[in-house]
Amino acid sequence: MKRVPATFTPPIMLDGRKKCPIYRQLYDWFRSAISEGRIRPGQRVASTRSLAMELQISRISVFNAYEQLHAEGYLETLRGSGTRVATTIPDDAFRPSSVASRKQRRQVHAKSGQRRVSARGLALSRLPTQPWLNTLGAFRVSLPALDQFPLGVWSKLLMRHCRRQSRSMMAYGDAMGYLPFREAIAEYLGTFRGVQCDSSQILVTTGSQQALQLTAQVLLDPGDPVLTEDPGYPGAQLAFTTAGAQLIPVSADGEGMVVPEILIRRRSARIAYVTPSHQYPLGTTMSAARRMSLLNWAVRSGSWIIEDDYDSEYRFGSRPIASLQGLDVHGRVIYIGTFSKVLFPALRLGYVVLPKDLVPAFSAARDAADIFSSILYQAALTDFIREGHFARHIRRMRMLYMDRRTALVNAIQTHMGDVAHTIGAEAGMHLVALLPPGIDDVSISKEAARSGISAMPLSTCYLKRPTRGGLILGYGGVNDRQIHDGIRKLRISVRRFIPS
Ligand SMILES: Cc1ncc(COP(=O)(O)O)c(C=O)c1O
Repeated sequence: MKRVPATFTPPIMLDGRKKCPIYRQLYDWFRSAISEGRIRPGQRVASTRSLAMELQISRISVFNAYEQLHAEGYLETLRGSGTRVATTIPDDAFRPSSVASRKQRRQVHAKSGQRRVSARGLALSRLPTQPWLNTLGAFRVSLPALDQFPLGVWSKLLMRHCRRQSRSMMAYGDAMGYLPFREAIAEYLGTFRGVQCDSSQILVTTGSQQALQLTAQVLLDPGDPVLTEDPGYPGAQLAFTTAGAQLIPVSADGEGMVVPEILIRRRSARIAYVTPSHQYPLGTTMSAARRMSLLNWAVRSGSWIIEDDYDSEYRFGSRPIASLQGLDVHGRVIYIGTFSKVLFPALRLGYVVLPKDLVPAFSAARDAADIFSSILYQAALTDFIREGHFARHIRRMRMLYMDRRTALVNAIQTHMGDVAHTIGAEAGMHLVALLPPGIDDVSISKEAARSGISAMPLSTCYLKRPTRGGLILGYGGVNDRQIHDGIRKLRISVRRFIPS
């Protein structure tokens, strides 16, 4: 095959009808592109041959322009690596005009917040965020033990599929996902979670968040009521809010969503969103009685239940609890799962198990959104599951997280036992340290962040007024030493607000 250039050709406009010669127009273009920062110091430029070919001009014109740029210090040639923009640009390159144009562009960017975007876009940009929680250390919620993931096995499986990717694997795929992967998921869910489904009902997504987004898009019209647990998962609240839904908080207690609250108030809704295996964030499990009455309510009112089963693989001390979907004989439950917690979040793979009649609408919605997920990762993960690595990893992590959970509970008891009460430590990868009534958990969380600790304030998961503040502490990704150091630091932050 003919050698092809390894650089991109910029959009250079040359006009042969102008009096100014072509080489000079080319020189001017490069000079201003360099001085305005559109091409950066050190960036490679095309060879004279390939630029002449791409722009359909004579090579001598390119040669003359480059020679002038070299002479003035804008370009430099390194032996063996071609021509590039000089790493030290001449001072006069930053002419007042180019500085002015950069300033102008900055002003436009600064003003862009005031320019018209949709009502949805505006609402999104005004949503509260908690950037101070974004560290990789103790006690970042939702982070598994990344250093324990079997990277060796994973890279072998990826390589296996990379090397032998068929044409069909490299082309456009099915919006529902890669069939062998959906078959492996269906088998896993049937065995491990008691989910009743076959592969035709499984839609592979880029994590639970996309599953929630698609569900909202397919099932909700603006203004539709959605019941959510309170406190609840902010990611779900986000997905429903952006679809224009009206969120109706329903209290959550030691038995999960307080279903009697819905029944007493005769609430009807399009959707009830629940985390029955491990309520987010309180960590409780929905009782059998509540499950049955939620299912009955859904059948009677013609509503959908979204079951978010985000981390049910990790249950300590008691046997795994079967899914709500498995109890549903009327096709009212949409079951969502993810590989973010059980493997790692950057994989961006999750799934929805759909009642059969919803499959066409969801498939079309996925097609309209981003068509389908990367097949390479789906193929590698299929083998990871089929060859037993998945089950092995879950087993190993369950033991590890159980130890970490115990270490965290003990550390809280030892260092903060007088001010914090632990709940929700029976399953998953996080627990809640409840604080005394009236304490501002957001201020404590911000104070803790100053010493590098990520402690999510419980109050930010409430739609109604929280009864009590607390700190949501993830322990999946923290080792014993980090747990002990972290709790000591957290104690200092807490003490600033609750003196002993
Ligand atoms: C309740 C709940 N659902 C789902 C997820 C996972 O989201 P994703 O699969 O988009 O990474 C999380 C992660 O924090 C969660 O807490």
